[in-house]
Amino acid sequence: MRVTIFGASGLLGKALMREWREDTVTGLRSSDADIRDAERVRQAVQKTSPGWIVLAAAYTDVDGCESNPDLAFAVNRDGAINVATAARLVGARLVFLSSDYVFDGRKTTPYETDDTRNPQSVYGRTKAEAEIKLQELMPDCCIVRTSWLFGMDGKCFPDTILKLAANRPAIDVVNDQRGCPTYALDLARAIVRLCRKNASGIVHVTNAGDCTWFEFAEEIVQGAGLTTTVRPASSQHMSRPAHRPAYSVLSPSRLKGFGLEMPSWHDALQRYLEQRQLTS
Ligand SMILES: NC(=O)c1ccc[n+]([C@@H]2O[C@H](COP(=O)([O-])OP(=O)(O)OC[C@H]3O[C@@H](n4cnc5c(N)ncnc54)[C@H](OP(=O)(O)O)[C@@H]3O)[C@@H](O)[C@H]2O)c1
Repeated sequence: MRVTIFGASGLLGKALMREWREDTVTGLRSSDADIRDAERVRQAVQKTSPGWIVLAAAYTDVDGCESNPDLAFAVNRDGAINVATAARLVGARLVFLSSDYVFDGRKTTPYETDDTRNPQSVYGRTKAEAEIKLQELMPDCCIVRTSWLFGMDGKCFPDTILKLAANRPAIDVVNDQRGCPTYALDLARAIVRLCRKNASGIVHVTNAGDCTWFEFAEEIVQGAGLTTTVRPASSQHMSRPAHRPAYSVLSPSRLKGFGLEMPSWHDALQRYLEQRQLTS
């Protein structure tokens, strides 16, 4: 099978490039094909002629999206439409990466794949609108919603916490947003398996279990053997441009329907910390 990955230089893209063995994989960065350029995308897809395309490219700066909505929609919604259009042209299947931020966070039990979208940020709106357009254009596309991504290949929450904890006796972390951390490596493995199972429709893929950012930070600091105090804080005291959902736990029931189960986030964090130590 031939596979083309848009966003191959990102956190997830790099994990996909490492994990996707046994197939012929082409990884594209924005300098290879800017997904805002429909013609360039078409050429890249026709040249690589894939059976599957994974669209992991996105403008992922959630706060940046608030101040640059035109860029956010151009990349995350219109870019996705360009990739889906090119995929249709060569008969390729598509995995589109979406986000827990398509939900408003008002639920108190895990979001199912068919729960109503109600994004509260520009980034969430770009992803929600892309999902709707892609489902119209390509009813058999696979939309993988994930959340709180972390990994070895880029800026992520555990990396930020470890850098802060190394230099400060105490750090404040928000304790009123609950979600599911997701290790890029585990997500990449699940995406490969979903493609092999010919998955379509919306699938939630996160590590198992949930926590607040504060609980996540506490375990990161303890797991790394640091003595920094982690203090719970409220979002109100750490105001940021984009609204974040208070609760965005994603239900894995559809993933389980494909016979797939994700490791717990505790296990994933442990493996991340071990890997980090090996490479430092
Ligand atoms: N990070 C999270 O917590 C999180 C949570 C939920 C969902 N997601 C989604 O998961 C996917 C992967 O996220 P990530 O964290 O791995 O992203 P990332 O590390 O920020 O990487 C973004 C990737 O997108 C590429 N890109 C950006 N603008 C582009 C453009 N105009 N044309 C082509 N490529 C472009 C970048 O390429 P260059 O570096 O070459 O410019 C890079 O490879 C994204 O769809 C994201 O929205 C992420």
